[in-house]
Amino acid sequence: MCGIIGVLGNHEVAPLLVEALKRLEYRGYDSAGIATVNNGKLDRRRAVGKLVNLSDLLVHEPLAGKSGIGHTRWATHGAPTVKNAHPHRAGGVAVVHNGIIENFRELREDLAATGYVQESETDTETVALLIRREMDQGARPVQAARAVLKRLQGAFALCFLFDGEDDLMIAARKGSPLAIGWGDGEMYVGSDAIALAPMTDRITYLEEGDWAVVTRKGAEIFDAEDRRANRPETRVAVNATRIEKAGYKHFMAKEIAEQPVVIADALKHYTGGGATPALRLPEGLSFAGIDRVVLVACGTASYACHVAKYWFEQIAGLPAEIDIASEFRYREPVLSDRMMAVFVSQSGETADTLAALRHVKEKVAKVVAVVNVPTSSIAREADLALPILAGIEVGVASTKAFTCQLTVLALMALQAAAERGVLTPAQVAERLEELRALPGLMNAALSLSTPISRIAKDLAKAQDILFLGRGPMFPLALEGALKLKEISYIHAEGYASGELKHGPIALIDAAVPVIVLAPKDALFDKTVSNMQEVMARNGKVLLLSDAEGVETAGPGAWKTLTLPEVAALWAPILYAVPAQLLAYHTAIAKGTDVDQPRNLAKSVTVE
Ligand code: F6R
Repeated sequence: MCGIIGVLGNHEVAPLLVEALKRLEYRGYDSAGIATVNNGKLDRRRAVGKLVNLSDLLVHEPLAGKSGIGHTRWATHGAPTVKNAHPHRAGGVAVVHNGIIENFRELREDLAATGYVQESETDTETVALLIRREMDQGARPVQAARAVLKRLQGAFALCFLFDGEDDLMIAARKGSPLAIGWGDGEMYVGSDAIALAPMTDRITYLEEGDWAVVTRKGAEIFDAEDRRANRPETRVAVNATRIEKAGYKHFMAKEIAEQPVVIADALKHYTGGGATPALRLPEGLSFAGIDRVVLVACGTASYACHVAKYWFEQIAGLPAEIDIASEFRYREPVLSDRMMAVFVSQSGETADTLAALRHVKEKVAKVVAVVNVPTSSIAREADLALPILAGIEVGVASTKAFTCQLTVLALMALQAAAERGVLTPAQVAERLEELRALPGLMNAALSLSTPISRIAKDLAKAQDILFLGRGPMFPLALEGALKLKEISYIHAEGYASGELKHGPIALIDAAVPVIVLAPKDALFDKTVSNMQEVMARNGKVLLLSDAEGVETAGPGAWKTLTLPEVAALWAPILYAVPAQLLAYHTAIAKGTDVDQPRNLAKSVTVE
């Protein structure tokens, strides 16, 4: 949440800051702002809403200077107003901030008692005022920052810029990620390597509690005890062009369409590209001595875990439990040294998932991360990280990351089955062949986009929509509902098909479309009965099935969509595509902001 950028450059910095903020806008778009130092003078511009509003403001009120900081906000403390927008300024300091200062109330009272009163409702301005008070008492910027950082509790990343100091930024990280970028006579600070990609690929990640004094000559990094810390510089290859829309109207559309390619890439990476696929997961991924897997994540990633629970249990006979990360560590889960804990996250920075990982570290046999960003905190802190290889995902609604997460989790379940002797090598090879068919099948599913766009025009009129699924399709019903509600703002719920009659059926009438995700599998007949129950109550059923399923279900459905036949186990991966397309086209029909839906952010780095 919230994106931070800082540049000590050799040219006018405002365009660079805005460009970097564009790449960080996925972290929040409630407001944006920049501050620069020009001829020793600190000044700032801030605008509410999307970054484009800040760009417009800068056309009328340009900001000169070769040093600057910028911010894109996802509001936590205080409404999205100009007053609450970053950078926050107090006297000679400006600050941008990601995260939450948990003790800000107490600090604010302390400030007020000494005559330092806030203008905004934010916890960030509290930090700026604390620095100002130190400086008013004679401290130099570095001394002031060092003293203030010690007083801050919570999880945050900060970057400071000072009046009269055109060659100085101070950056600090506790809980929220922050990277230093090395240029040629220029230096950068950014929330992630993506923001810094057009400027540099030479990155140093700050570690927990680190703070850094950055000048054009380089960065001096200190640890939480103020000792000089030597943090490695790494080359991070982020292809700047890959975050373009490539002719698509929205990133989400592009990312949905990319799925056959990225799934094929992931399968090739983990099973080899030859004629006969074989499992090639990293050696460290051993299920020897493991008697239970716990899968933890948030949102869409947690639904991927939910599907994987079915797989670990059905394919490998390995007990699996799932939890959403924000609940996991507070429910005092029973941990053991025979347990593998798997943390699934696209961004690898989700605060709750990271905290859950830290909760189990050293207490379980192995901590595995399934992540899209291989340099992320979750990847770095796990014993072993399996990248899902989806490529950068920009659309706030996760699509290709979900199916790539599923693919990697499917391979992990197969590995467990192989190691435990539940599947023979020949059976594993058969399952891998089935997985390899998925990219082709997904291409066929993508061709449903036009009929789906027609159905979506009707769905867009609904106030409530239900999704039903059985077995591993149940979590997909949850995911279909989440996708729809987050981008079209239509209320949607996912249910296990058999659960409908235990309450939710009371909602059914002609105005509530029911979307049934049901390939013709062993449980299909039961799902058809559930559909009949809906239709008998005037419910409008949209059935997604294969040709045999559509035929078996018979007439009566409001609409049907016919998908290619797929191995029942892997159906959630294939059926994710029409579920995503339904959400996408419904949002288009409603005219909502598909890539940046209201109130959301791509990377949730606060608890
Ligand atoms: C929904 C969505 C979110 C994320 C969740 C976890 O489309 O994208 O529900 O799945 O915030 O994020 P990551 O995977 O980055 O940990």
